[in-house]
Amino acid sequence: MTLVQTKDLSVGMMVAEDVFSKAGQLIIRKDSLLTRQMIAHLKYYSISEINIYDGELPKEIQQALQARSSIESTQLERIFHSEEYKTFKKNYSANVNMLQNSVNDIILRNTQVNASELIQQTVKVFDNGESYFSLFGMLHSMKQIDDSTFAHSVNVAIISRLIGTWSGFDEETLDLLTLAGLLHDIGKCQIPDNILMKPHKLSRHEYEFVKMHAQFGYDCIKNQDLDPRIKRAVLHHHERCDGSGYPFGYKLEQLEDFECIVSIADVYDAMTADRCYRSGLCPFEVISFFEQEGLQKYHPKYITTFLQKIADSYLNCDVLLSNNEVARVVYINTRLTRPIVQLRDKTFVNLLDHPSLYIQSII
Ligand SMILES: [Fe+2]
Ligand SMILES: [Fe+2]
Repeated sequence: MTLVQTKDLSVGMMVAEDVFSKAGQLIIRKDSLLTRQMIAHLKYYSISEINIYDGELPKEIQQALQARSSIESTQLERIFHSEEYKTFKKNYSANVNMLQNSVNDIILRNTQVNASELIQQTVKVFDNGESYFSLFGMLHSMKQIDDSTFAHSVNVAIISRLIGTWSGFDEETLDLLTLAGLLHDIGKCQIPDNILMKPHKLSRHEYEFVKMHAQFGYDCIKNQDLDPRIKRAVLHHHERCDGSGYPFGYKLEQLEDFECIVSIADVYDAMTADRCYRSGLCPFEVISFFEQEGLQKYHPKYITTFLQKIADSYLNCDVLLSNNEVARVVYINTRLTRPIVQLRDKTFVNLLDHPSLYIQSII
């Protein structure tokens, strides 16, 4: 085995010794294949190096890893070289610029929100994705180019519209929901950039100030001629259904559909912020992220719809189990991270019946 520095680790390397945090907590088991999440954990725990097995991985795992990455890169390559993507990029940038100008006008000149133009431009971007796989991929790629609050707001508007579409909302409601997504962080314009973009952890005082953007945003649009659901979503998009959110610590029964949907889209967009689009989105990671956060924080109906759609995208994918066996996902159970899988010898394993076995990564 070789001691490899954390900064030089890559996905798929096999860990040769149990890894513990400085406080003695087991972080990664011996024989695990490294995933992006594990590498991020090592960095989080400031572990500078770990022992990795020398030599080749078992052939079967190598082949599966290669097959998966070539499928992903072909799919993404196809998208990024397509006419669809060029049009998407153009519409997306126009959307971000229009939102920025519009927000400036609202704040500096107290003008009325140009709702129909903003919605129309966002729908253009939304309609441009031929599937939601490509839409997520393209949104993700734009994050590498523009991570401003305005670009984030366009993403949240599009993802909210997607959740609304999956939930069967009519066109008029979808348009209002889209506008709620576009405006949800308008209050951030009142938070200085040196706090918003601070590369280090915010002080307690700074964090409390950032939290005020929900109230600032509401104050900014409360006299506008807008649907009350939009105004509520701006004020309540950081509330959580278990009462752990802000500004008021409202619970499920006090919250309405718009703020519940916008909050899911907001968290999703924030969690994809530091991931490189080339490595693709791992749906399993998205689901476990929300599970770790606590599903009780989100509206049961909308979080189920959202995660179910995401889980569906890993149907028929090859995965690596925690015992290092390769399997294919053949059925998504209600417990989304524990599907039924088929092993290479054609036998079926229901992960619900094997609590100690879990999906290590999608390959
Ligand atoms: Fe926010
Ligand atoms: Fe946000």
